[in-house]
Amino acid sequence: MKFTYLGHACFMIENNNHQLLFDPFITPNPLIENFDLNQLNPNYILISHGHEDHLADAETIAKKNNSKIISNYEIVTWYGAKGVEGHPMNHGGKWSFDFGTVKYVNAIHSSGLPDGSYGGQPGGFILDFDGKIIYYSGDTALFSDMQLFGEQYKIDLAVLPIGDNFTMGIEDAVLAAKKLNCKKVIGVHFNTFPYIEINKQEAINQFNSNGIELILLNIEESINI
Ligand code: NI
Ligand code: MN
Repeated sequence: MKFTYLGHACFMIENNNHQLLFDPFITPNPLIENFDLNQLNPNYILISHGHEDHLADAETIAKKNNSKIISNYEIVTWYGAKGVEGHPMNHGGKWSFDFGTVKYVNAIHSSGLPDGSYGGQPGGFILDFDGKIIYYSGDTALFSDMQLFGEQYKIDLAVLPIGDNFTMGIEDAVLAAKKLNCKKVIGVHFNTFPYIEINKQEAINQFNSNGIELILLNIEESINI
């Protein structure tokens, strides 16, 4: 499985058959100067919650590629009215797609949509994809249900926000990884805006001193998981 970081909390996971894009916020990202959205051809776009910094490019990309949106019921319905197809979910529910399974799980955050519409409850995703279990928490505070996720699944990779202020910061993300019993974390949701600036080396050190690998990718950098 190839993992590509696309800035802020946007990333893509793919294998030979499927491309899954998460929380697309690319063209408005102040850290990205030139990016051709046409290079993305996702089969699915997974949206954790309704905030602009998680869905700004979703409609454009979905319409060009006929991608399906996977998110909560309210967000999928909102996109449905724009002519974008989707698969609605809600907390605790799991579905088997052609690429693997997705469970939509709870998060502690908010979820208003850009036009003021109700965006349902914010969430995260636990995926079984290409032989790996991946947990993407979405924007969230630390919460103790993460321990249940770690007991129920052998999580190979956790994608967690580390920028603080709007979400968990480094200290809480370390604790989250421990609760999840996951030794490999990719950090997202940092440095995009002044409120969420971090010291990357300090973050890596804090995770390492707890026996957890923190991977901080450059924008458009890919790794194999
Ligand atoms: Ni948010
Ligand atoms: Mn956010």
